[in-house]
Amino acid sequence: MDRPKLILGVMLIALSMGAATIPAQAVAQDATRTFTISPGYRFTEKSGEALYNASCAGCHMPDGKGAQGAGHFPALADNPAVEAAPYVIINVLHGRKSMPSFGDEMDDDQVAAVVNYTRTHFGNRFSGGVTPSQVRSLR
Ligand code: HEC
Repeated sequence: MDRPKLILGVMLIALSMGAATIPAQAVAQDATRTFTISPGYRFTEKSGEALYNASCAGCHMPDGKGAQGAGHFPALADNPAVEAAPYVIINVLHGRKSMPSFGDEMDDDQVAAVVNYTRTHFGNRFSGGVTPSQVRSLR
């Protein structure tokens, strides 16, 4: 490899390494400002994974590790609070402080799916899957 190509290669590696750390913060900071759900919006995703990515990952991150930026977004990975299924359902249905509510944008099946996904991914292995009727009873 000649010198200019080598320098370009090193620059590209440096760029790609920087890019791996910067966007996570950018997403978290944007999330507080831009996460607005227009009235009447309904999520169309059905699987827990798709719903998580569409509605939770922007703040809690795709790996569930949370983020610290313009606000504090608690991790859902390795978080004992996530073991209590009703607590997670209530957070999703009704929101919590700066976390928005999703009760009007998701039906009972969707809330159950995203809660079950959260409690069984990111290293979480909590038993006791939630059912749509459990979600309905907490609305
Ligand atoms: C706009 C950002 C945002 C989005 C989107 C969001 N959350 Fe949150 N979430 C938060 C914040 C901020 C808190 C901490 C609230 C507080 O101060 O107690 C939180 C708290 C929680 C908690 C409680 C954690 C604990 O330790 O008590 C759970 C569980 C949770 N979120 C799950 C979800 C799920 C599941 C979704 C997707 C359906 C979601 N969140 C979407 C911002 C968000």
